[in-house]
Amino acid sequence: MDAIEYAHANQARFLAELIDLLSIPSISAQPEHKPDMKRAATWLCEKLLAAGCPTAEVMPTAGHPVVYAEWLAAGPVAPTILVYGHYDVQPPDPLNEWRTPPFQPAAVGDDLFARGASDDKGQAYVHVKAVEAFKETAGAPPVNVKCIFEGEEEIGSPSLAPFIREHADLLAADVAVISDSHILDKDTPSVVYALRGLTYVEVEVTGPDHDLHSGIYGGAVCNPINALCRMIAKLQDDEGHIAIPGFYDRVRALDADERAELAKAPFDREAWLAEAGVKADWGELGYTIVERTTARPTLDVNGIWGGYIEPGAKTVLPGKAFAKISTRLVPDQDPARITQLIRDYLLEIAPPEVSVEVRSLHSADSAIVRRDSPAMQAAFQAYAEVFGKEPIFERGGGSIPVVATLQKVLGIETILMGFGLPDDRLHSPNEKLHLPNFYKGIETVIHFMEMLPQIEE
Ligand code: BES
Ligand code: MN
Ligand code: MN
Repeated sequence: MDAIEYAHANQARFLAELIDLLSIPSISAQPEHKPDMKRAATWLCEKLLAAGCPTAEVMPTAGHPVVYAEWLAAGPVAPTILVYGHYDVQPPDPLNEWRTPPFQPAAVGDDLFARGASDDKGQAYVHVKAVEAFKETAGAPPVNVKCIFEGEEEIGSPSLAPFIREHADLLAADVAVISDSHILDKDTPSVVYALRGLTYVEVEVTGPDHDLHSGIYGGAVCNPINALCRMIAKLQDDEGHIAIPGFYDRVRALDADERAELAKAPFDREAWLAEAGVKADWGELGYTIVERTTARPTLDVNGIWGGYIEPGAKTVLPGKAFAKISTRLVPDQDPARITQLIRDYLLEIAPPEVSVEVRSLHSADSAIVRRDSPAMQAAFQAYAEVFGKEPIFERGGGSIPVVATLQKVLGIETILMGFGLPDDRLHSPNEKLHLPNFYKGIETVIHFMEMLPQIEE
């Protein structure tokens, strides 16, 4: 039996194990889930040992632990890959919109519904099972494998850059492989070569030092919610152009070649509208939906609150208002500089009667990876083998902070070997993983590991 046959014969067990992992509510943002983070890390560590890795450990960081494992059985001349994944997930709210509970995985037809099914437990687990398939058939993988699974990706990977700097020798590799993105559709493989960066701030606007009667004081006191809304309205015009001075200064323009290449990927506008659940698209004039969602910077208010939000009416002039605001960045915008520009602008446009505090929650660099490497060639061949079609290059709109960190700190390029689908509802209720992609992902990684040593730089 070869590794592919083994993976095929063991699909049912692989699924049962994934369901186990998905049952652990490893929500990195919520302090009460700290024990679940440890539990998920330990679970993965045990599975890596069982898959044959001679060493696997749960390593502490200032935040949630990193799981590190290695199996360097292929020898010093063989290539070494660094597999990265994240075992943390986003909060599942709003809970009432889930058809089945987020941490009670439910297989319905070809789909497995659970928080983290696609982002990223299901996709990360693909690599563990590929390694196991080699252990049980060939004895060991044909490449040296290092695995790093982090527990803070969904909160901006605050402990990961220090961890990578501190363990640079341990993590040395020829190429990194990350399955944490999606392909175009279930029959059309694609490889993401660019990710957007991000900044995330929380704004606190303070008006009166206590809530006031809006009839007694209204008209003569600046309402912080009104003020915040006027400020937010000035961040962006009606057509999606961001009005923060200097925001576009370093944006790398899309050249005609790249625009032509992005336009080659099949795009079904009606299907996109249905997937997003909107009646029309919106955004920056002069750019296609694909360009706006992957290659152009954006600004979104992620949450806004203050005042009275319980049932019924309360005539209050509140003391405080809050908003969470994030941007998506493209090369060559610098997140630290953009955060400063946002802060400066908000303080400048704030009415003098309120005070404003802007706190940075996290940020991440954008990244563009090399497209002409031998490893990319191996990835393309592996996808073609399993999906029966050469993949298409595309840019991704999301952010994976580690990709730029690996380039900057270790000089390692990444292959974004995604197996999710665009309609997996990442971060939304009813997140799912298309199970045929889970199994095809395992086979694609097996082929990739087999092909990599045969391709020369
Ligand atoms: N896996 C996603 C990013 C992604 C999704 C990349 C689809 C490409 C295609 C990742 O887990 C994610 O959600 N990242 C966060 C990063 C942030 C919290 C720093 C994001 O993009 O919001
Ligand atoms: Mn992810
Ligand atoms: Mn995510």
